[in-house]
Amino acid sequence: MCGIVGALLERGHVLRGMIEGLRVLEYRGYDSAGVAVATEDGLVVEKRAGRLEVLERALEESAFPDGRAGIGHTRWATHGPPTDANAHPHVAADGHVAVVHNGILENYLELREELAGAGVEFRSDTDTEVLAHLVSRELAAGGSLADALRRALARVRGYYAVAVLKDDGAPEVCCAREGPPLCVGLAREGTWIGSDVLAIVPHTREVVFLEDGDVAELSTRGVVVRGRDGAVVERAPQRVDWDAADAGKGTWAHHMLKEIHEQPDVLARTAFHRLDEARGDVRFDEAGWSDADLAGVERVQVVACGTALHAGHVLRYLVEGLARVPVDVDFASEFRYRAPVLAPGTLALAISQSGETADTLAALRLAKELGARAACICNVAGSTMVRESDAALMTQAGPEIGVASTKAFTAQVVAAYLLAVRLGRARGTLDEARGRELLRELRLLRPSLERLLSSESVARVRAVAARHKGVKGFLFLGRGVNFPIALEGALKLKEISYMHAEGYAAGEMKHGPIAMIEEWMSSVVITGAGAMAEKVRSNIEQIMARGGPVIAVGADEASLALADERIDVPASSEWLSPILNVIPLQLLSYEIARLRGCDIDKPRNLAKSVTVE
Ligand code: AGP
Repeated sequence: MCGIVGALLERGHVLRGMIEGLRVLEYRGYDSAGVAVATEDGLVVEKRAGRLEVLERALEESAFPDGRAGIGHTRWATHGPPTDANAHPHVAADGHVAVVHNGILENYLELREELAGAGVEFRSDTDTEVLAHLVSRELAAGGSLADALRRALARVRGYYAVAVLKDDGAPEVCCAREGPPLCVGLAREGTWIGSDVLAIVPHTREVVFLEDGDVAELSTRGVVVRGRDGAVVERAPQRVDWDAADAGKGTWAHHMLKEIHEQPDVLARTAFHRLDEARGDVRFDEAGWSDADLAGVERVQVVACGTALHAGHVLRYLVEGLARVPVDVDFASEFRYRAPVLAPGTLALAISQSGETADTLAALRLAKELGARAACICNVAGSTMVRESDAALMTQAGPEIGVASTKAFTAQVVAAYLLAVRLGRARGTLDEARGRELLRELRLLRPSLERLLSSESVARVRAVAARHKGVKGFLFLGRGVNFPIALEGALKLKEISYMHAEGYAAGEMKHGPIAMIEEWMSSVVITGAGAMAEKVRSNIEQIMARGGPVIAVGADEASLALADERIDVPASSEWLSPILNVIPLQLLSYEIARLRGCDIDKPRNLAKSVTVE
């Protein structure tokens, strides 16, 4: 939702490092940005609505001073429009305390009234400004900045990752976490704060992941963390292997395009080291997936959001089809509020790229309360979801910066396929020979992925995009294991081109959507395999008979030949076809958004990780 950076250094200056950190975090929120630095002449703040480059220009124009302590922020507005005044940092009335915050302070209005009644004048519409004044008033009551922050937070209800800078005398920096992620990097020159590790790894790989309730007091040689009760808690630093360069887009036009093209490598990194072809089985290095662990799994309950939920729908087809274990899939935001009933032996499986999505975390916690074992498929080591799960199946997609998830999605589907094989082998519903066949088919997938990303394949999709970029809207249709791919294709197009697009089970066409068919409503139909192929062909005929243009995507020649437009996908096993079929849909959404001049990596109103409700 928002990006937070900060630092307290022994020597040297923080500004450049903070700006670079905000640039890396900009994918988390980008409607305004700001920094505060402690200098000999006191606290200096610069903040601007708009993208980070607007702030950078302001810093240059004002010859902004530098210092060895500072905090910074990129915002995704929750309270108050994106204006200079509403941008973070927010400064207390005395001018000595600055605060940046990610989250929501649910009782900020009552606190605001109380403070206004005590004479505090507010300069923004935000909830965060309340915290700046509370910390300042608690400081006046005595104690350290960390004590003041803890006392101020005791007044607050809500979710927050917060960093505070104080400047009178020797500068001090503290931070705290309740919900949204926050980590602390232990570098040679001092200590850094970041909403995620990408902002920290340019300075150090030794990272402390704060837990909910932690208040951390930075020093130039490390950090002291105290828990909810104020007692010091041990938070051992973890070594992080992500590279800041991985988060760059190099010569690619957009992060999303780079990440689409990384998918063959992501498949290999996520899957190939886990394949035990001799035994037709999968080896999970992570704990919690052994035969013994899986023997008791009677049912799987998937909870996720957005694209990750679509991977969960694919997982259901794979696990039920290959391992014969029943699977339920639910929106995390619905599951957490619908008073669910979980049968004994249920494995709750959260799927999340970031491992920080508030609804998914809440749903997983509820499932644990209801007696389920908790597991996750996740892409970020050290994330909250990984730390709160009994077992974590890690995808190896690397940092995904584009707000529209692509490589993380295919990595999640690959992980689902591996889990289906592991579950089937552990429970005896898959024999060794069949296991070996499934693993061989997975290993053969990479060249097919590379073909779909070749320049001629991309050119074909680009031509289709050019012909359909101005239509009224899109219907995406699929059947069976490719029905979730129809949902995913529609979401990709919606979120980066802002066009109306709807994903539907192709068999549902005649129950409503067919009424929408007209010349200006394009239908993207994912062709089927086996028995489904014939049924999808008749869907295509029904649409074309009513004058609707059809773009067929897949490997079924009869369907491809029938449609107005065709995007060929290499043949594969039906179970693996979703990983291939989604690639042209990712490229189609990218090309249409590009032709429509949309901001592909930072689509309006969206953020990469939705860490609040
Ligand atoms: C995907 O393109 C979207 N950006 C969004 O739906 C995303 O998948 C969803 O917010 C879940 O995020 P997570 O995987 O980090 O939990």
